[in-house]
Parts: sequence; C-alpha cells; structure tokens
Amino acid sequence: MPDANWLYQLSEIQHRYAARTILDLPVLDIARGEVLALVGPSGSGKTTLLRLLQFLEAPTHGAITFDGAVLNDHLDLTVRRRVATVFQSPALLDRSVYDNVAYGLQLRGIRTAYDAIMTALERVGLQSMARARARTLSGGEAQRVALARAIVLQPEALLLDEPTANLDPYNVGVIEDLVRAHGAMTIVLVTHNVFQAKRLADRVGLLLSGKLIELGTAEQFFSHPIDPRTRAFVNGEMVY
Ligand SMILES: Nc1ncnc2c1ncn2[C@@H]1O[C@H](COP(=O)(O)OP(=O)(O)OP(=O)(O)O)[C@@H](O)[C@H]1O
Ligand SMILES: [Mg+2]
Repeated sequence: MPDANWLYQLSEIQHRYAARTILDLPVLDIARGEVLALVGPSGSGKTTLLRLLQFLEAPTHGAITFDGAVLNDHLDLTVRRRVATVFQSPALLDRSVYDNVAYGLQLRGIRTAYDAIMTALERVGLQSMARARARTLSGGEAQRVALARAIVLQPEALLLDEPTANLDPYNVGVIEDLVRAHGAMTIVLVTHNVFQAKRLADRVGLLLSGKLIELGTAEQFFSHPIDPRTRAFVNGEMVY
C-alpha cells in the first residue's frame, strides 16, 4: 500500500551485476524529509543503492515506489529530475564554476537563474569563485561545486555519496550545516564517517555485502544496536 509518509518504498529489491548479487533488500522505506545515513564497508553496495534511488538503473528484481508511483519498467526522465545526486567523484564541465551550476537548470529549460545560482554557490562557500574555471579547482572545491549544482535544482531527494570525503574541517562544517538545513528535502547520505552519521541522521542503516543488516533511529543504531555487527562497525572493530 502506498503511504503518504514515504517518498521511496523499496520492496524485494535484488540487483545483480553478471551473476553476482550486489544488493538484496527485502524492504527499505525512506520517509519524506528525513536524513537517512547509510554506512558500510567498501564494496557493500552503497553507491549502487544510490544509483537505483536516482533511477540511473532499474533493479534486476523488485519494485521501487517513488511518491506513490511504482517505477519498475522504465526510468522516467521527469521522475529522475525530482532527485539529484552528488557522486563520489563528480565530473565537472570545463567551463566556469557558475556555468557548471547553471547547466542542470538549462537542461530543464531555466535560463535566468542568476540569483538561485549565486545563492547555491554561497551555501557551499564558493560565491567568490563563480568565474573560476572548474578545472582549476581543488578536489574539495570541485566537490562543493557538484553539491551546489545539485541543490540549485531544489530536488525532493538529494543523494550524497561521501560528500565530505575530500574536505578540510571548515568545509565539512559548511556541508554539514547545509544538510542540517535541508527543510522538506529528503537526504540519503552515504558516509564512511560514523560520527557524521550520528551528527546528521534521523535514521542510520548499515549495509554489509548488499544486505541492510540494521536500520534504526540514530539513537537506537548507536546506543542500542540489535545486530552485534552494528556495534562492531560503529566501534571500528569490524574485520572485512
Ligand atoms: N557496473 C558494475 N559492474 C559490475 N560490478 C559492479 C558494478 N558497479 C559496482 N559493482 C560491484 O558492486 C559492489 C558494490 O559496489 P558499490 O560501488 O556499490 O560499493 P560501495 O559500498 O559504494 O563501496 P565504496 O565505499 O568503496 O564506495 C562492488 O563489489 C563492485 O565491484
Ligand atoms: Mg561507493
């Protein structure tokens, strides 16, 4: 049954590459306006899950319901545009910072958005670099441009794949403040940093080998985990 509280409802999802099952998620619901953090070791399927949530690929098996509509057979551009993702190694155009942030709006037919673009750059602390060429930026600056490019679209869901991995502490703070100010926007945050998950998330999920081992409120996940592997992961004791 579609439920108005859920932006995404995933059921019986399996995703395979060749013969390997990369994701196996009997159920995963993501609430409107929540910050859901996903943690898990390298190769556990976090980025693959974001690709499914961004509708870049359809799951091998199972259905994704988005805003009450089932999306199992086709990847509809109009639905895809309601979601934005900042991937781990974002590719920027060899143009100015400003043009990079403007690009997604132009694809949607919006050409006069100077204020919105400058506001997005300001939110990631890059308004003074609007005219810089994107290829001259540092890794952390490029990542923040990618974030500005996503938020200027005002998506209903923002998917962030390790958004602070290359950033210094000041800029980690800038990005974390931005996540905290998400308002009605749903955020799925993939992070290796369990402290960041604790700081920002309403709920936290642990992925291990494509399975959601535990999903709970941040309080429950960190203070009273049900699965012993959650405690081991949180304490940095997991051997994988
Ligand atoms: N296009 C693909 N074809 C084949 N295998 C893939 C493909 N994409 C990902 N995989 C495999 O799926 C598994 C999960 O990859 P994924 O990128 O989702 O992991 P991750 O949790 O994001 O890891 P990391 O923390 O290192 O980013 C890995 O074993 C990876 O090699
Ligand atoms: Mg990844």
